[in-house]
Amino acid sequence: MEVCRTKSAIRAQLADWRPAPIVLVPTMGFLHEGHLSLMRLARRQAGTTGKVVTSIFVNPTQFGPGEDFGSYPRDEARDFDLMRKEGVDAVFAPEVSEVYDPAAQTIVETTELAKVLIGKLRPGHFRGVATIVTKLFNIIRPDAAVFGEKDYQQLAVIRTMVRDLDMGIEIIGGPIQREPDGLAMSSRNVRLSPADRAAAPILARALDEAEALAPKGITASRLRSHVRATLEAETRAHVQSVDIRDAHSLETIAGPLTRPAVILLAVKFGQVFLIDNRVVQPPQEEP
Ligand code: PAF
Repeated sequence: MEVCRTKSAIRAQLADWRPAPIVLVPTMGFLHEGHLSLMRLARRQAGTTGKVVTSIFVNPTQFGPGEDFGSYPRDEARDFDLMRKEGVDAVFAPEVSEVYDPAAQTIVETTELAKVLIGKLRPGHFRGVATIVTKLFNIIRPDAAVFGEKDYQQLAVIRTMVRDLDMGIEIIGGPIQREPDGLAMSSRNVRLSPADRAAAPILARALDEAEALAPKGITASRLRSHVRATLEAETRAHVQSVDIRDAHSLETIAGPLTRPAVILLAVKFGQVFLIDNRVVQPPQEEP
């Protein structure tokens, strides 16, 4: 596996490999099984002739003041070992100074999607994500890129940006990977205290209940209240938001569910911010 620290090094490596198709998996490192499943998806997408390229970059511009940029877990040597085992061809792992020019003044933003849901809780977050993903796309120029469905809104932001700016890159979503007790895998899980770790599967349980209730015919607001009540029964869970949106457009839903909806959760345990989601189905129409 080639380890490239600079834009010129990764560009030169990729120039050697083209026209082989390039599939990118952008990460912030501290890999878990969820990331590895995205790399396997990328490998399948790249086929026998293609190349899988990853990036490890804890992007400062997507963290707000007081968020966990400084304490975000990092272990590059372990990440490189795991990537080698997955057959990754090259990793781009730059320093912040290599990525951002101090005089930079250009940003990329999905104006509406960036303001709602997680964007409301973390102002500026999706501007940072859209800008770094655009930069990675411009540096690496992949044919396809793979992102996890756990960051449901992030995936919607990236798809919207690729459509709006005619980037011509295929965006592939990889399913959420879960621990045996249902907790969605996240690099942040290691920062949970033992008591919070034991309580955190409440997110998955609330989503299981919602998935079972939705096809029985329930309004979006009742489903939302049910999910919130389940979460709030766990005293360690500090619920930040529970939203039910159209699974495709992320528009708000009023009244009964008539099309697939996504339930989006954001919950804090101590200082650790966890998210999870589930697409649920409306009642089936009578034949
Ligand atoms: O999902 C992540 O790990 C990050 O938001 C991403 C897409 C690598 C951009 O920094």
